[in-house]
Amino acid sequence: MTAIAPEAAAYTAAMKRALEIAAQGPVTGPNPQVGCVLLNDAGEIVSEGWHEGSGTPHAEIMALDNLRARDLSAKGLTAVVTLEPCAHTGKTGPCAVALVEAGVSRVVYSVSDPGAISGGGAAILEQSGVQTLGGVENEAGTALIERWLVSETLQRPWVTLKWAMSLDGRSAAADGTSQWITGDETRAKVHLDRSRHDAIIVGINTVLTDNPRLTARAPEGGLYPHQPLAVVIGARDVPDNALIRNHPGGFLHAQTHDLAQTLSDLFARGTRSVYVEGGATIASAFLKARLVDELHITMGPLLLGGPATAVTDIGVTTMADAHQLNIVDVCTLGGDIVVTARPLREGSR
Ligand SMILES: NC(=O)c1ccc[n+]([C@@H]2O[C@H](COP(=O)([O-])OP(=O)(O)OC[C@H]3O[C@@H](n4cnc5c(N)ncnc54)[C@H](OP(=O)(O)O)[C@@H]3O)[C@@H](O)[C@H]2O)c1
Repeated sequence: MTAIAPEAAAYTAAMKRALEIAAQGPVTGPNPQVGCVLLNDAGEIVSEGWHEGSGTPHAEIMALDNLRARDLSAKGLTAVVTLEPCAHTGKTGPCAVALVEAGVSRVVYSVSDPGAISGGGAAILEQSGVQTLGGVENEAGTALIERWLVSETLQRPWVTLKWAMSLDGRSAAADGTSQWITGDETRAKVHLDRSRHDAIIVGINTVLTDNPRLTARAPEGGLYPHQPLAVVIGARDVPDNALIRNHPGGFLHAQTHDLAQTLSDLFARGTRSVYVEGGATIASAFLKARLVDELHITMGPLLLGGPATAVTDIGVTTMADAHQLNIVDVCTLGGDIVVTARPLREGSR
């Protein structure tokens, strides 16, 4: 990477704008949110673009197209992009090449693309005489597309594990009933979170016990525009009349106990994030396999006692094996407490 003048600080404001417009793209789907602004010599923004999802133009292309639509040239401009321009031909051509052909003289980006195929755009730009500068507003750029970055790096979807429990850590009463441990506000958050993931996973027992719809519904009752794929995992058959079979996001039955393989299969079909909704057996199996990136633990103000603990065997028999967590957020929602936590990764404390 070549250091260029003016220094990175000169691009902070433009990168913040690129990050802001990137957030207009969808959080779901196989592609990350990306924003791009084009600057003239005076550092003024002359065009903007962002990615609106798989199959649509990438942010750089939208910014170049918006410029051309006004009969302006990109020659000598600086492109400020939230993600290193891609190097591969997918549903669209490589952005690095498009920027070279358009005549931009510099490309400033926030986050390097870890993709085995899509990465390497900066090298193409450099080889073609375009100056590059990476790492500008890197923390914010990484945070924006963290789920996608983790997914690309691990070659499996990002996994959010959610459960609802009583204050004494029970996810159901002794007779198996579990509706409703938490209140309306928390349930509204769960529905919103469903709409912000590519897929939902539940264990077969939850389907057989509760026959849930698992749709993502807005507070006023309508469906959110994005519905996740509904995945049931387990050997037993899903009944023909199970509501989940008619899920508007599609239905998939993974007749296996192999969680890693299921995640890998989902990744292969473009799933970059999953929302695991239990029950306790599936939640525990994901934890035991250390396949969880974020935990959403919602606690209702009640006690249930009895044997239905929120998690069971998670592979811990002694303190040294405990799953160590970082608390990301604690808030109250209605009468409930919602904890967001992340398993510590190596070197993350
Ligand atoms: N409080 C909450 O947040 C919440 C959320 C969801 C459900 N629930 C409640 O939880 C109860 C159901 O939970 P549950 O623990 O009995 O069942 P579950 O987790 O829904 O399903 C467990 C089943 O999944 C299959 N399975 C697939 N992969 C597995 C793996 N890697 N390891 C082990 N089993 C695997 C097994 O069935 P096969 O033998 O057929 O493969 C297993 O019996 C219901 O009462 C429901 O109301 C509570």
